[in-house]
Amino acid sequence: MIRRVEPNDIFPVITLAFDTLPERYNPSIFNQFYESCPEGFLVALQNKTIIGFLIGIKTTPNIARILMIAVEDSFRKKGIGSALLTQFIKEMKNQQITKVELEVRTSNKNALRFYKKRGFLLQATLQKFYQNGENAYSMGKEL
Ligand SMILES: CC(C)(COP(=O)(O)OP(=O)(O)OC[C@H]1O[C@@H](n2cnc3c(N)ncnc32)[C@H](O)[C@@H]1OP(=O)(O)O)[C@@H](O)C(=O)NCCC(=O)NCCS
Repeated sequence: MIRRVEPNDIFPVITLAFDTLPERYNPSIFNQFYESCPEGFLVALQNKTIIGFLIGIKTTPNIARILMIAVEDSFRKKGIGSALLTQFIKEMKNQQITKVELEVRTSNKNALRFYKKRGFLLQATLQKFYQNGENAYSMGKEL
């Protein structure tokens, strides 16, 4: 089941982000994303437990940006990441968004393949984009 995030979901999302993503985020930003763009903050649940999430924001009235997407390790390759992305695109289309952008580590081959197969195109390489100095690919998809 995919739905918009609710206040009680924020703490489990922070825990899941810590377990699945290499980047270290200040926990307070999750509440900020919820308050600024609740329609872009989605969770995937299995029996009321959060097993995945996606956070996106609007960067202009017509462009959205995916900031994080993650699925718990043991639930990957079951279509949950795709379902989060599909629901996000649906939410964004309802908000008159015409393009979705994101960045992905150049070393994250899984995520790179995941996005390419779902219609995202490479836009640029961003040097030293991450905290550890790693480069990113900027990708975009017209809706
Ligand atoms: C990237 C990520 C979110 C994808 O989530 P996911 O739930 O595994 O995504 P899906 O299951 O929808 O798709 C993943 C693959 O499983 C395959 N798959 C989907 N359902 C399947 C099924 N029932 N049986 C077998 N394979 C399946 C898909 O074809 C897909 O392969 P592809 O990418 O080659 O097309 C997940 O790998 C993740 O959390 N990674 C760590 C965090 C991360 O790197 N985030 C991105 C940072 S930019």
